[in-house]
Amino acid sequence: MDQQQTAYERMGGEAAVRELVDRFYDLMDQEEEVKKLRDLHAKSLKISREKLFLFLSGWLGGPDLYVRKYGHPRLRARHLPFSIGIDERDQWIACMRRAMTEMGLDERLRAELDQAFFRTADFMRNRAEAEQDDRLTVLPSAKQ
Ligand code: HEM
Repeated sequence: MDQQQTAYERMGGEAAVRELVDRFYDLMDQEEEVKKLRDLHAKSLKISREKLFLFLSGWLGGPDLYVRKYGHPRLRARHLPFSIGIDERDQWIACMRRAMTEMGLDERLRAELDQAFFRTADFMRNRAEAEQDDRLTVLPSAKQ
């Protein structure tokens, strides 16, 4: 495979990105295990589908459709109104992983995208959790 090709080209361009996004939201909408994630979203997923498609087009190295329409995504800031912890991150990743597998994306491409999606999803976490709080605990000061 030509190393110069973008992920967007490797996966099959616009139609493939649309398919990925549609499968992703269909799973989010149907699977009981990701209810926590689904409940954060609006009742209708129509706008989410369109925005994620526009965003991923550029993120995968294709046309920067989201930026042209809405400007810089400020992705983390846009997620701040929603409480995102480990569960939400993992549910998001589970839907994306399954969508990629069901589409039959090339294994190597899938592994690369999986890592990139994980890094981005992890960056969206904005809820302090026990795991982090432990590290932040202030140790009792030494007796004076
Ligand atoms: C970590 C778990 C994540 C959660 C819980 C989450 C949740 C949400 C929610 C609730 C919205 C608002 C849309 C709606 O109400 O339908 C949203 C918007 C969006 N998310 Fe996420 N998201 C996550 C990760 C990601 C990742 C990894 C990406 C990109 C790779 C992403 C891209 C977007 C985009 C582009 C929008 C639209 C932003 C806008 O309003 O213009 N999200 N997300």
